[in-house]
Amino acid sequence: MQSPLIAPSILSADFGNIQRDVEMLNNSMADFIHVDIMDGVFVPNLSFGFPVLKAINKQATKPLDVHLMIVDPDRYIQTFVENGAAYISVHIEACNHLHRSIQLIKSFGIKAGVAINPHTSIDLLEDIIADIDIVCLMSVNPGFGGQKFIENTYNKVRKLKQLIMSKNSHALIEIDGGVTNENAKELVAAGADVLVAGNFVFSSSDPINTIKTLKNI
Ligand code: DX5
Ligand code: ZN
Repeated sequence: MQSPLIAPSILSADFGNIQRDVEMLNNSMADFIHVDIMDGVFVPNLSFGFPVLKAINKQATKPLDVHLMIVDPDRYIQTFVENGAAYISVHIEACNHLHRSIQLIKSFGIKAGVAINPHTSIDLLEDIIADIDIVCLMSVNPGFGGQKFIENTYNKVRKLKQLIMSKNSHALIEIDGGVTNENAKELVAAGADVLVAGNFVFSSSDPINTIKTLKNI
């Protein structure tokens, strides 16, 4: 089994000590830093905006994986690119013209992703999967860190893996929400490439070691 890429979610960091926490991630085996942007409309919560992203980007030595939980994301794609995004994922449920949004992200020379809610069928990705670099498969309802993992995710990972292979897509499968050492192994066995982890990493007494544990699952 190949070891997964690990993307700790900065949402669970201590924002009073953001520099310290980003430095910790820089010194860890994390592959990306997952950045959750919430607008209070698409999801029932607000997170943070560009000044905070800019501060994170200034310290980070790992690529920023930006997850946009916002309506009408096209309006802000360029600004996210200017603030250091290496990956941008938009929600399929938030885009009326998903293909256009993906092309817009790619026009800036960065990686494009689609995030998909727990209730949304993988089948809806059929005609976009060959165009994207990553699928952010939500394993909780987006809006909050520290929620319980939804078990149906395993079936969705397997189905998505089949779709990716049948369409000759190079898209990575990223699992977002409730990831712990208890589900990580089964997720990777089902076909997951990237594991996001917020609460599990940042609430542990030794986050560097927790990231290592996930990496070596
Ligand atoms: C949920 C976010 C997740 C979240 C993951 O809306 O998209 O990225 O921060 O956090 P945990 O690992 O705590 O579920
Ligand atoms: Zn996320």
